[in-house]
Amino acid sequence: CGFLNFRMKESDMTQQKKRIGILTSGGDCAGLNAAIRAATYAAVERGWEVIGILDSTCGLMEKPYRIVHLTKEAVDGFVMRAAGTILGTTSKGSNSPLNYPMPDGSKKDRSIDFANAYHELKLEGLIVIGGDGSMGILREVSRRSGGIVKFVGIPKTIDNDVGGTEQTIGFDTAFAVATEALDRLQPTAASHQRVMVLEVMGREAGHIALNAGIAGGADVILIPEIPYKLDVVCAKLQKLRSEGRMHSLIVVAEALRDAGGKKVQTKYGDQVRYGGIAQVIAHDINAAIGAECRVTVLGHVQRGAAPTAMDRLVATASAVHAVDLIEAGQFDRMVIWKGRQVTSVPFDEALAKYHTVDVAKDSLIRTARAMGVCLGDA
Ligand code: F6P
Repeated sequence: CGFLNFRMKESDMTQQKKRIGILTSGGDCAGLNAAIRAATYAAVERGWEVIGILDSTCGLMEKPYRIVHLTKEAVDGFVMRAAGTILGTTSKGSNSPLNYPMPDGSKKDRSIDFANAYHELKLEGLIVIGGDGSMGILREVSRRSGGIVKFVGIPKTIDNDVGGTEQTIGFDTAFAVATEALDRLQPTAASHQRVMVLEVMGREAGHIALNAGIAGGADVILIPEIPYKLDVVCAKLQKLRSEGRMHSLIVVAEALRDAGGKKVQTKYGDQVRYGGIAQVIAHDINAAIGAECRVTVLGHVQRGAAPTAMDRLVATASAVHAVDLIEAGQFDRMVIWKGRQVTSVPFDEALAKYHTVDVAKDSLIRTARAMGVCLGDA
């Protein structure tokens, strides 16, 4: 982890107080540090010790453990305002204790090593700030360790695709960044009478595209949940032109399938990542109606911004609630944000459903259609 350059030695740990651990796991997003800060404050305020585990579960997979003592001073000041995670993270289960990469190139189930470290550090609860993948891994580690590892989860991801919660930490900031991108694209689109195609992240969920598309005044919003027809998109662009509006803005979610129904992805070694659908759309529009198109792929810029006020609020409230759950001995639960309140649900309920845009029920679909925004299908 590149943020914190002080480590705890085991001799530093003379425990009298209740001690909890905290780690961040999966892709980073804005608001993680606000959650780490709030959990630290809430725990220290009740006289507990807080151990930060570095680089997700990796910090406990080798000795000496890579951990830090989180005090109020350590998380004061800029931390809440900073993007990224001061604890570091790993993503896509690449270093999961369930399938840990060994020096000889093999993979090994090291759940028990993680549980032993948890026990040795005398942790009385763990806060995992992660997405659905990380929560699933930690649940399995806990199960394989016979329940030694007790944890509560706080959902985070710019994708907002974790079930059970209305808003994950990081989504609001990504939404704001994507909206600002549209604000910046509009004047240049208008000046040159161009079609600007903005590709946003979100995996299989179109939340960032739908929300930013509406807030940023897009003419066309294409999300994975609604298969699009090129002729419908082109008809919309031509209609705008016939009405005298010579430029247009299109937002495309990264997991939108191409005209042949295929995902547009790139392989980096053994990892496959979305990226490139906007180029495909722009190319096809140009070929169909001759419109001059330009593409912007927003990528990780959506993750690196300072957290919005809303993300700080959700992160802070969620972290305090996570500490409350540990105090009450309520584990295997995930904190959720619902109706401007924090509460929690059992993991089984939270992870049962991947949260994509519900095309039939999401009122923002109705909002977009009523505004004349083309969603590619009609
Ligand atoms: O899940 C968050 C996310 O940013 C997705 O929106 C995106 O597809 C993916 O992570 C990118 O992953 P990586 O950081 O590994 O490139």
